[in-house]
Amino acid sequence: MNDIPRTTLDPVDWSELRVLGHRMMDDMIDHLAGLRDGPVWRQMPAEVRAAFLAPLPAAGRDAARLYQEFSANIAPYVTGNTHPRFMGWVHGGGNPMAMLADLLAGAMNANCGGRDHVGITVERQVIAWAAEMVGMPATTSGVLLTGSSMANFVAVLCAKFRALGPEGRRNGLGGEKLVAYASSGVHRCVPGALDMVGLGVRALRQIPVDADYRMNIGALRDAIAADRAAGFTPFLIVGTAGTVDVGAIDDLAAIAAIAAGEKIWFHADAAFGALACLSPALKPRLTGIERADSVAFDFHKWAQVSYDAGCVLVRDAALQLATFSQPTNYLAAAGGLAGGQPWPCDLGPDLSRGFRALKVWMTISAYGADAFGAIVDKSCAIASHLAQRVTASTELELAAPAPLNIVCFRVKNFDDARTAQLVVDLQEAGLFAPSTTIIDGRLAIRAAIVNHRTEIADADALVEEVLRLAAKEMG
Ligand SMILES: Cc1ncc(COP(=O)(O)O)c(C=O)c1O
Repeated sequence: MNDIPRTTLDPVDWSELRVLGHRMMDDMIDHLAGLRDGPVWRQMPAEVRAAFLAPLPAAGRDAARLYQEFSANIAPYVTGNTHPRFMGWVHGGGNPMAMLADLLAGAMNANCGGRDHVGITVERQVIAWAAEMVGMPATTSGVLLTGSSMANFVAVLCAKFRALGPEGRRNGLGGEKLVAYASSGVHRCVPGALDMVGLGVRALRQIPVDADYRMNIGALRDAIAADRAAGFTPFLIVGTAGTVDVGAIDDLAAIAAIAAGEKIWFHADAAFGALACLSPALKPRLTGIERADSVAFDFHKWAQVSYDAGCVLVRDAALQLATFSQPTNYLAAAGGLAGGQPWPCDLGPDLSRGFRALKVWMTISAYGADAFGAIVDKSCAIASHLAQRVTASTELELAAPAPLNIVCFRVKNFDDARTAQLVVDLQEAGLFAPSTTIIDGRLAIRAAIVNHRTEIADADALVEEVLRLAAKEMG
């Protein structure tokens, strides 16, 4: 009897699991409470990398030992975006309520692809809140996804459906020369989406930007006219609300007006910028987003929900359904558990989906929308302070304007190699994690203030450390 392998994964004695689970919870709460005391990031030693080159284990191991291994080999070597001095890329800091929600969602293990259960209802609530946040109508449809890359992809597919109708789903492009427009500051995932849709990246016309890195509206008009004259079909304009390099917000109202006049789909990529709608001071800068046909944004960025939690909103609910729904024999029924259509699996590409909505719903419910407006304001105030410190310094210079929460700067006279090395040094010392970007052909240090834990003193400390490393380098 004892030789037969157990074929259930539940423990015989739940009390041991309970003790281990409580310990994990205590340790993770200590981890969040003590984030400032640790490094932002640590390089993984070779032996830790090697620990993850093991063959498939035939037999299981003791759970407490496994947790020791997590504590030694996993917890210390994660990205570091929970740390207040992580300023790289556009990473949210997460929050304690979302951490607990992840535990609850894990225990529920709901499949939110469809069926009539509360996971779908919670997701619809979250989508309605998101539409309210950006000022879209209550009838707006949407779905949670991994991130804005997928949300932009879903929006491109909806725009393509508007242009080609159901025929386009059956027969593909059918020789239509569809073209789209976005500013040259567009995130890489937008040309990526055109590639995945089968249009190719050259179908995206990248419109030059003005001195504030916003799309040149006159150039957009000219490009559309030139394309129509050359026999192309303009089908999509992407306005960016918060470009990834510098945080510029396109003139969304002007783009909305052009899109309406030209009968072109207007999509707003507001991956992090959408949250600025919750700041009464910043909201006017996003005027026009409420007129978008679709909006992509992330809860895992400025909304501080743990990864991953992207969202697409689509004004025309019927069109979103028509873009993705597929006839199936076995999925849906009129009532019972298989009722409750439309299902999320018919609003995007995923069939099986986790209970992402729970951590979003718990985060927004626990802290309230006003808290996120205040976090956005604080992030922008820190970025302005950092930009002022840079401008006031004789050794540093701004590489671009800092209109929102992103500051790109350099040590004067540093070439690209020295700038790159300085950022690597900051990261490897575990002190700060800014990233880099290229502005006007030259590398710049890029600090994006997204994490709710970052304070003014962290920006000051970054300036001091950059100046110290620069002085050391200059000898
Ligand atoms: C403007 C913009 N769009 C799209 C994305 C892609 O978002 P995700 O990384 O969630 O896929 C980002 C990421 O930083 C972004 O800043």
